[in-house]
Amino acid sequence: MPDSALSNSPIVAAYRQKTAGSEALAKRALASFPSGITHDSRHLEPYGVYIDRADGARKWDVDGNEYVDYFGGHGALILGHNHPDVAAAVHAAYAKGTHFGASHALEVEWAEQVLSMVPCAEKIRFTSSGTEATLMAVRLARAYTKRSKILRFRTHFHGWNDHMAPGQANHYDGTATAGVLDGVAAGVVLVDPNDRDGVTAALAAGDIAGIILEPTGSSTGMVPTAPGFLAFLREATEAAGALLIFDEVVTGFRVAPGGAQAALGVTPDLATYAKIIAGGLPGGAVAGKADIFDLLDFEKARAGGFEKIGHQGTYNANPVAAAAGLTALRLIATTAACDRANAFGDAMRARLNQAIREAGLAWAAYGEHSAVHVFTNPAARAGIGPDSFDPLALPFMELKGNAPGVAQKLRLAMLLNGVDMNGWPGGTISAAHGPRELDETDAAFRSAIAMLKAEGVV
Ligand SMILES: Cc1ncc(COP(=O)(O)O)c(C=O)c1O
Repeated sequence: MPDSALSNSPIVAAYRQKTAGSEALAKRALASFPSGITHDSRHLEPYGVYIDRADGARKWDVDGNEYVDYFGGHGALILGHNHPDVAAAVHAAYAKGTHFGASHALEVEWAEQVLSMVPCAEKIRFTSSGTEATLMAVRLARAYTKRSKILRFRTHFHGWNDHMAPGQANHYDGTATAGVLDGVAAGVVLVDPNDRDGVTAALAAGDIAGIILEPTGSSTGMVPTAPGFLAFLREATEAAGALLIFDEVVTGFRVAPGGAQAALGVTPDLATYAKIIAGGLPGGAVAGKADIFDLLDFEKARAGGFEKIGHQGTYNANPVAAAAGLTALRLIATTAACDRANAFGDAMRARLNQAIREAGLAWAAYGEHSAVHVFTNPAARAGIGPDSFDPLALPFMELKGNAPGVAQKLRLAMLLNGVDMNGWPGGTISAAHGPRELDETDAAFRSAIAMLKAEGVV
């Protein structure tokens, strides 16, 4: 956004006034980090808020401002910030040492807990992040099928490893993004979301080792997966001898205790995890059919005469992360946490849509489960509104877009009104979000829309 749009904006001026401590840190950070940030999604103009502490569904910035939080640790915190049981487990594990350089009991219990919850999980390996998990899933698929290509869907996000870069936010033609080898990009086949013909043609062309997707759709349902598409993929991959991989880094243990595969009734060959699986600490995993995991097994490789896939990682199954993950997963398995977050999602979508209706905007709040998206209608299409909204009827790139300045100003205006919404715009919900958060979010959204109107943004 041009500087003049920032300097002439009452929203930006009020934001600067309210967040002077954040601005000072953001200026300092520029000397250390490119763009002053450590994760691309934290990029916000003029700068993002610096958070000091968090609890339940709320967080507080360095200037003492309080926010209802819809980032939830990038989706990791379905139980909310600082769940007392998770915090106690972390403190107890920390007191015993943070790294043993050896196997430990908690990793076994943690694995057993995942295997008891996830339909596809017969075996598991822990990693340190979701990016590592999808990297491992791709390598397993290639080695297992002895084929070279991975089919991905445009705009679906699977972390930042080389195979997952082209076609996620750019290079939709499949060419290599900056720093990625052409040969790696050539090993990725990109297909549009929900494009059955594209999948069929790619599988018929041969050499597809596996298909990976976010099961509820790109960016946790911003581009939703069409009804029946997962079952189609299951059948098509089985017929073609390719693996089906669900990236459940966000949906796992969120849409249901068993993840999207349990909620939607389609069992993949492999699933990748991070975020909730580690209870809000760094960690990830790949889980799936046992015979695929033979490829990581010293004894099976020796007996079978095949080459084992190497797998290292200093922080794999770190004991503190294991304690957090195990405790969080047990709570998710034995309480109505997912149902509570999903019900809040329904209520929040309804309340935001009512505000959109009353404001007369051609927008819509949508999404499934505990993910909320706000469509701000970048192409200014006629006939868009909360009552008739069908995201599957729109081009997927339009669902991913926003009119210039709208998402950024909406985010700042929501922050000014005490809500930290994701820049989609939208967010993920936790089981700690309750009626007070719903009322405050509704009021903040209405006030933010009024600010956008006053500024001529909408
Ligand atoms: C669907 C999905 N897959 C993979 C990843 C990458 O996980 P991580 O950030 O732990 O590397 C993310 C992270 O947001 C994600 O949303």
